[in-house]
Amino acid sequence: MDATLRNILEKMPKAELHIHIEGSLEPELIFALARRNGVALPYASVDALRSAYAFTDLQSFLDIYYAGASVLLAEEDFYDMTMAYLQRANNDNVRHVELFFDPQTHTSRGVAFATVVNGIHRAVQDAREKWGMTGALIMCFLRHLSEEEAFATLEAALPYRDKLIGVGLDSSERGHPPEKFARVFARCKGLGLHLVAHAGEEGPPAYITTALDDLHAERIDHGVACMQDPALVQRLVRQQTPLTVCPLSNLKLCVFKRLQDHNLLALLEAGIVATVNSDDPAYFGGYINDNFIAAFEALPLTREHARRLARNSFSAAFLAPEDKARRLREVEAFFSQ
Ligand code: ADE
Ligand code: ZN
Repeated sequence: MDATLRNILEKMPKAELHIHIEGSLEPELIFALARRNGVALPYASVDALRSAYAFTDLQSFLDIYYAGASVLLAEEDFYDMTMAYLQRANNDNVRHVELFFDPQTHTSRGVAFATVVNGIHRAVQDAREKWGMTGALIMCFLRHLSEEEAFATLEAALPYRDKLIGVGLDSSERGHPPEKFARVFARCKGLGLHLVAHAGEEGPPAYITTALDDLHAERIDHGVACMQDPALVQRLVRQQTPLTVCPLSNLKLCVFKRLQDHNLLALLEAGIVATVNSDDPAYFGGYINDNFIAAFEALPLTREHARRLARNSFSAAFLAPEDKARRLREVEAFFSQ
């Protein structure tokens, strides 16, 4: 691709709003933590594990992703995983990050909620001190589990309320519509938490509609299925509801057969506040800049789209108005060079 455009994508200040921290566990770190913790892995080597990363759909990925997370036991493990991601994000000129984490993946194995949240949170604080990168945590409920289990998770999170900016909904989408968690989300809203939900990744556009109507989601994670419903597209544009789009994830999970078929450009042209993110970078072959570069190589996206996507990433973020304005000024300063 054009070297100037590539340089812009790499250097422009950006926010990442859709990254599952457990999805940043590289095979090398999985093996190192397995050794450190005496956890047996069903793979003989880093290469054997990496070669298992051939997914056919969301569930085929989730099975391996949850197995990979089984090496995380101590607070230090969560810290090391998060710091490794933040280091890469800083190299990609990410200035603000909103991290997803899945407490139920860990508490179900006997790891304390405190261990998880404290390890991740401490790394985010250190990144702020080291690089001035701001960060916040979004706790996700696993939608394949029950409403009751989600309520129990929220209960466990209450002592750590100040370490969370919001809640989300992830895991197996088909057959687990957002409305299953309407009461949990209502409670979260009452606690002043921001609300997001995965919807319309491989599920139908109707899940995006119920994420908005029943969960009151402020952002939709993925949401690429909205294009199947023109009235929904109009609504997303009218409400300026951001979508956190993850191109390489969509490619690897066969949501789109080829990146050339991805609807990122169509979403932007329709007036949707789309953003570019990495989802689970260790599993999908790339961090945020890799996602930008791959999408811009596959689609006729321009410098103006880069500017829009950088702007969108901060306007869609859960930042205080003055911080948002400062970051948007940084984007404008970058693009007016
Ligand atoms: N958990 C981690 N990555 C996910 C994705 N892409 N969709 C749903 N749940 C997830
Ligand atoms: Zn995701």
